[in-house]
Amino acid sequence: MKSLVLWSSRTGNTKKVAEAIYEVLPGEKDILEEGREKDISSYDLIFVGFWAFRRGADMVARRTLAKIEGKKVAIYATAGAWPDSPAAKDYLENAASLLPESSECVGTWICQGRVNSFHTGKRNPNKEQVHPLTPERLERLQEAEKHPDEKDLDDAKKWALEVVKKV
Ligand SMILES: Cc1cc2nc3c(=O)[nH]c(=O)nc-3n(C[C@H](O)[C@H](O)[C@H](O)COP(=O)(O)O)c2cc1C
Repeated sequence: MKSLVLWSSRTGNTKKVAEAIYEVLPGEKDILEEGREKDISSYDLIFVGFWAFRRGADMVARRTLAKIEGKKVAIYATAGAWPDSPAAKDYLENAASLLPESSECVGTWICQGRVNSFHTGKRNPNKEQVHPLTPERLERLQEAEKHPDEKDLDDAKKWALEVVKKV
């Protein structure tokens, strides 16, 4: 079993998860930032990470997913959204739907990730009108501040090992 962990990360959250997954993978393995040229033909399993952007995967991850032909792919992500929310489920499903038909999504996983202050409106007062800071949103963003935490990284590792066992 030869695995590749791909990550896309703007502020480091998704990269942390990628490194945790990479750490526990058995056998031959590589880790690489998305958007770089790579011959993936020798890999049996590819983990593709994204950070949630505009209610889906970030643009680099979207392009990466659309290009992976004939592989088993496990998709993981970090987001401001609650991990068990319909929104988080949608992000993962939409990301999986970007895979070419020749590839198969063999698992998905998501956790919260600290949201850069630009997006919360702290640095741009106009953002308040686009994303009002309701009590619910404030609570969610305050919780996101703490993630990914050690438990998230442990969960990601467990999930990755389950995927490996399944494939
Ligand atoms: C410009 C921007 C757009 C975002 N859009 C969403 C979104 O639509 N849904 C969501 O749940 N999180 C959203 N987020 C939160 C990020 O996905 C989250 O903070 C993620 O952990 C960042 O990962 P990174 O550190 O790997 O870049 C957004 C963040 C930024 C900066």
